[in-house]
Amino acid sequence: MTTDRSALDGVPHVAWRGERAWRFAWTLVSAFLVLSLVLGLAAVLPALFWQLHLRATSAFLSGPARIMVLAMASVPTYLLFAAGLMAFSAGATRLLGWRPRPHAEMRISAMEPELSDWARYGIMSHVVRVLVGPVLRNTPVWVWYMRANGARIGRRVWVNSLDVTDHCLLDFGDDVVIGAGVHLSGHTVERGVVRTAPVRLGSGTVVGVSCHMEIDVVTGPGCQIGSLAMVPKGSRLKANRTYVGVPVHVVGDEPEVG
Ligand SMILES: CC(C)(COP(=O)(O)OP(=O)(O)OC[C@H]1O[C@@H](n2cnc3c(N)ncnc32)[C@H](O)[C@@H]1OP(=O)(O)O)[C@@H](O)C(=O)NCCC(=O)NCCS
Repeated sequence: MTTDRSALDGVPHVAWRGERAWRFAWTLVSAFLVLSLVLGLAAVLPALFWQLHLRATSAFLSGPARIMVLAMASVPTYLLFAAGLMAFSAGATRLLGWRPRPHAEMRISAMEPELSDWARYGIMSHVVRVLVGPVLRNTPVWVWYMRANGARIGRRVWVNSLDVTDHCLLDFGDDVVIGAGVHLSGHTVERGVVRTAPVRLGSGTVVGVSCHMEIDVVTGPGCQIGSLAMVPKGSRLKANRTYVGVPVHVVGDEPEVG
């Protein structure tokens, strides 16, 4: 294996193709295997529930009443599956160490182990987001999942967007509200390099609908961000102020970010 340094940003660049291909393949295969196990485990409780349900309904009911009661079991079945999927997925990434760390710089072409961990965390979280998120987002259950998946989140927090990702890089105080369609994550990709940094929202921060927030943002308590705003990376937004625009500036003031 040989390494050289990019003139652009100094991130090491791994040049041995075979090793990169192997790491890429292993990332996908290991994610597939763990995901299969997690989905299988998540289906165990619903399967047990159905077994009991079938026995009970055949013992006490018959005809249309039995069919109706069986059909009604689809909702608890889904909720049991969703609970299992959230718990086992978050547990697996924690157990296997597939969690990105803050302030990492990972060149995509190098496919280093750290990038592999970040990608596998993303795959596991994505499956939960697709299979559970549309039903349970903006509920305390979704916040509970984000916490289990590594986020530090206070009380009475509402997250109404599934584009809030990299949970283990997020730190929200109490009473934070994230509007629908907000894009907020702990990573960005710039010139072929994945960079990570935390996002910290002070207590009472409200992020308006369809905002885009970059990495390494800190907001003070009571900060209000208007709808459709763009918060650049590294921004420090003051407490109890209202910010709007692209990029954000304080309402009624000259631009004030950074
Ligand atoms: C930002 C916001 C809170 C401001 O509300 P407000 O304090 O009542 O202020 P105003 O409506 O009087 O607007 C003040 C100024 O900001 C401007 N402004 C308000 N919202 C803006 C936005 N989203 N983008 C750009 N400018 C905006 C107004 O045009 C006005 O400009 P002017 O002083 O030049 O006339 C509100 O407009 C907003 O965007 N709310 C979104 C809430 C939300 O999405 N919550 C998520 C959970 S549902």
